[in-house]
Amino acid sequence: MTPPPGRKADRSAVVVGRAHAKVNLDLRVLGTRPDGYHELRTVFQSIELHDTLTAQETAGPFTLRCETPGVPLDSRNLVWRAAGALWKALGRDGDPADTLITLDKVIPMEAGLGGGSADAAAALQVLRRLWGGAPAELLREVGAEIGSDVPFFLSGGTALGLGRGEEIYPLVDLPRHWIVVVRPPFGVSTAEAYGWYDEDRAAGVREPRGELQILPVPWPTRAAQMVNDLEPPVIRRHPEILAIRGALRDAGAVASAMSGSGSAVFGLFQTRLQAARAQGSLSPMGGTIVLSRTLSRLEYEKRARPVLRRV
Ligand code: C5P
Repeated sequence: MTPPPGRKADRSAVVVGRAHAKVNLDLRVLGTRPDGYHELRTVFQSIELHDTLTAQETAGPFTLRCETPGVPLDSRNLVWRAAGALWKALGRDGDPADTLITLDKVIPMEAGLGGGSADAAAALQVLRRLWGGAPAELLREVGAEIGSDVPFFLSGGTALGLGRGEEIYPLVDLPRHWIVVVRPPFGVSTAEAYGWYDEDRAAGVREPRGELQILPVPWPTRAAQMVNDLEPPVIRRHPEILAIRGALRDAGAVASAMSGSGSAVFGLFQTRLQAARAQGSLSPMGGTIVLSRTLSRLEYEKRARPVLRRV
């Protein structure tokens, strides 16, 4: 029904946004910092695999809903923290209110795929739309407070991450690759992986750095040699990761590595067919195996842009 002239339609706004996962094409730990974090040089790459967030106006306290078991629905969830931090940054009093976010979770958790941070960045984007504007710079500042990886998810594509990983420099997009992501039946928390890294160094364990894997594409490949300094300490505790990496190479991947702090391992393929075959051949290994592809910065911008609907 059309409302009478001068009266606003009694419809509430719904904003839908996508939270795309990432893999790390390279991750070097340069040292430890006075704040307890590790100084990094990493190369992030967005992939098509994504969660979906739906934010809508509804009376009452801010609420987060998600049907996936094991997803916290309180301040332990980065979406919740993103809402609180943005609310405050916009100068609003008290706790966030009158908003419901429904999270459709697809990205495997404790995998090094940045799912929690991607959700937080998507929450900032959808809430900015729903709550009425916030400059991009403010979003980046709020994002960096929530988690080291969050600023990357505000721009996506292929990017260099320095500092804690929160200082982002866009790179030339990696030409499209198909990706097989294997998330073994166990997860690794980020803090745990860095803890193992420190523990091994303190104990004088020095594993040789993994082989450099140069991608056979016209691209500044030196940026991403598929070396991950967190791999040796995680593989020492979970040797299955090394087996998955090898299996991906045997299945035709041009390169394979653990993503971020693990436990997921990914392989890069030049055709979808090769990737689909590899997915099939690795399925007896168990866990979750996903076929995906890389996203350029432009593709990312288009896909991650929140969409407003009136219901
Ligand atoms: O920044 P974020 O909350 O995602 O980091 C989670 C944990 O990972 C930190 O508490 C820290 O233990 C570890 N970390 C680190 N150095 C980084 C990023 C994360 O030690 N650069």
